[in-house]
Amino acid sequence: MKISRVAVIGAGNMGASIAEVMAFNGFEVALKDTSMDLVGRGMQRIRSVVNSQVRFQAARGGKEIERIEKLGITLSQEQKGKIMSSIKPDFTREEGDALLSRIHPTESYDDLRDADLVIEAVFESHDVKKKLFEELSGVLNKRCILASNTSSLGITSLSRYFSDPSRVFVTHFFNPPFTLRLIEVVPSVLSNGETLNELIEFLGSLMNHRGPMVPIRVKEMPGFVVNRILVPMMNEAAAILDEGGASAKDIDLAMKLGAGMPMGPLELSDMVGLDVVQYVMEVLYSEYASSKYAPSLLVKKLVSSGRLGRKTGSGFFDY
Ligand SMILES: NC(=O)c1ccc[n+]([C@@H]2O[C@H](COP(=O)([O-])OP(=O)(O)OC[C@H]3O[C@@H](n4cnc5c(N)ncnc54)[C@H](O)[C@@H]3O)[C@@H](O)[C@H]2O)c1
Repeated sequence: MKISRVAVIGAGNMGASIAEVMAFNGFEVALKDTSMDLVGRGMQRIRSVVNSQVRFQAARGGKEIERIEKLGITLSQEQKGKIMSSIKPDFTREEGDALLSRIHPTESYDDLRDADLVIEAVFESHDVKKKLFEELSGVLNKRCILASNTSSLGITSLSRYFSDPSRVFVTHFFNPPFTLRLIEVVPSVLSNGETLNELIEFLGSLMNHRGPMVPIRVKEMPGFVVNRILVPMMNEAAAILDEGGASAKDIDLAMKLGAGMPMGPLELSDMVGLDVVQYVMEVLYSEYASSKYAPSLLVKKLVSSGRLGRKTGSGFFDY
């Protein structure tokens, strides 16, 4: 089966960025939200991603010249010209504009009828997704694959709200999809194995702004692979801080310098949102019925005080 028409439902943080990745790969993408105003906000997010990628690419040559000159080497105009022409931008303004023109904002299900793949990235709520799956049952064509970007909801139980559960999967993209290349692909108990292979092959053929996307196959289990490891680690960092083990800054330094993490766990928690950290821990805690997943008291305290991280201006750190 050839996937050529893609639709993304939910033009928020993830949906907008997933649509950007699809359009970057040359696909025409319908982007749906519940109102044109909300899709418009999603389009604005996509425009700013595109603009920053265009700027980043356009600056590469100049940055290389700056790097060489910082080493004390003086470059002639001719050498500078050669550097500029050999480091050409991989993504130009024209390509950015063409990408944007492939994304079609909509608030209507009518624009999804021809889609071969629909990826939903609506709110992480069982009831919202249930209703959406039921509504899509009367809309999508028989060959369409329905993929959910859910981080925590059971896909087998969700798939039963769609007319053909065998075509439902999780495609768990990471934030932000335009630079993070991993996709966890999770079939439900009811999924069709051949369709899973087709979906993985399709996702593996995609690129984002950093390189090829890498889908991995994961069994249906709470947290999948990445969040099952990462979120308890972030939670543990909060517990160490709460016990007075080290300062927030030093805990982050320890994991950056001692474990090679590009960001410290507390800084990362602030970026993801402490409410999200608490929520994922609660899901793991209840699903695995194990105290090792109990949310840290400090995370709970910060969440109840409204300090959720970057989005509220403070969390473990102030912004
Ligand atoms: N934010 C992350 O870091 C992250 C990472 C991986 C996966 N996810 C998952 O991706 C999904 C979306 O997360 P997000 O952070 O983008 O959320 P978000 O709140 O930024 O965006 C959700 C969007 O869905 C829209 N929406 C809600 N109900 C809808 C409906 N019935 N039809 C159409 N649109 C609807 C909302 O208006 C909103 O624009 C969730 O399932 C979440 O668990 C999030």
